[in-house]
Amino acid sequence: MPEATEKKMGPWGRFLAMPADNPVKTVIVAVVLCLFCSMIVSAAAVALRPVQAENKVLDKRRNILEVAGLYKPGIDVTETFNEKVEPRLVDVEAGTFSDAADPATYDQRAASKDPARSIGLDDDPASIGRMAKLASVYIIRDDQGGIEKIILPVHGYGLWSTMYGFVALKADGNEVAGFQFYEQGETPGLGAEVDNPRWKAQWPGKKIYGDDGKVKIAVSKQVPNADTASYHIDSLAGASLTSRGVDNLIHFWMGEKGFKRFLDNLKAGTV
Ligand SMILES: Cc1cc2nc3c(=O)[nH]c(=O)nc-3n(C[C@H](O)[C@H](O)[C@H](O)COP(=O)(O)O)c2cc1C
Repeated sequence: MPEATEKKMGPWGRFLAMPADNPVKTVIVAVVLCLFCSMIVSAAAVALRPVQAENKVLDKRRNILEVAGLYKPGIDVTETFNEKVEPRLVDVEAGTFSDAADPATYDQRAASKDPARSIGLDDDPASIGRMAKLASVYIIRDDQGGIEKIILPVHGYGLWSTMYGFVALKADGNEVAGFQFYEQGETPGLGAEVDNPRWKAQWPGKKIYGDDGKVKIAVSKQVPNADTASYHIDSLAGASLTSRGVDNLIHFWMGEKGFKRFLDNLKAGTV
């Protein structure tokens, strides 16, 4: 290109006039493209954050309705949840209901990471490290206003992930009405079979506590006998470690450090 013409062109013109295989041009195009794309991805992530949060709440509510046996495809989850489910907070150590926070906005997971609002666990079979002092529970009432079912949050470590779920109990605080996880990161086809409807179908009707008041339900490989049949959940085939995690977490949350005191108080009518 003649020098006079090149001088007349601005920087943009000179850039465009560079041959396509010029290394400087290649690097500039790549950098500009990366910046542009990262701006689009960041803007999308920020714009979609409220939608993601809303979907998470909706999914948790759908799981609560499912474990309570109130979910049917096509229902309005928010409307049914607001109509049928009474969110409450429980002081786990005291075993009583608590009004110390608003159940609608309380975030148990955030509280369990906050030393001021949680308890460090030495004996920690569920491998959760800390437990929030207040737990979000959900009550389903019958037509007379009595408690029909109570849904308790449970979580614990499987093989790869902390699994978060719910156990629904009948009014006696002992018979299981439903059990399911709403978040887990176990291997599909192995540990993630905890989400398989056939495995979950074993839980309703099983009992948590034996006649001595101790947690007797067990996720195990052993063949049940007449004494253990009402307390037995089959381990997942090829996923003993996840199954042990489920066994550990159910023992912890239903035990003395978990919801046992609250359930005893509920049965005694002292909460
Ligand atoms: C890639 C890979 C992923 C696995 N994921 C799981 C899992 O999610 N949960 C689990 O319990 N075992 C998992 N296992 C298998 C465990 O290592 C172990 O073999 C199994 O829990 C033993 O179960 P079993 O006694 O019923 O055979 C995985 C193994 C491999 C190789």
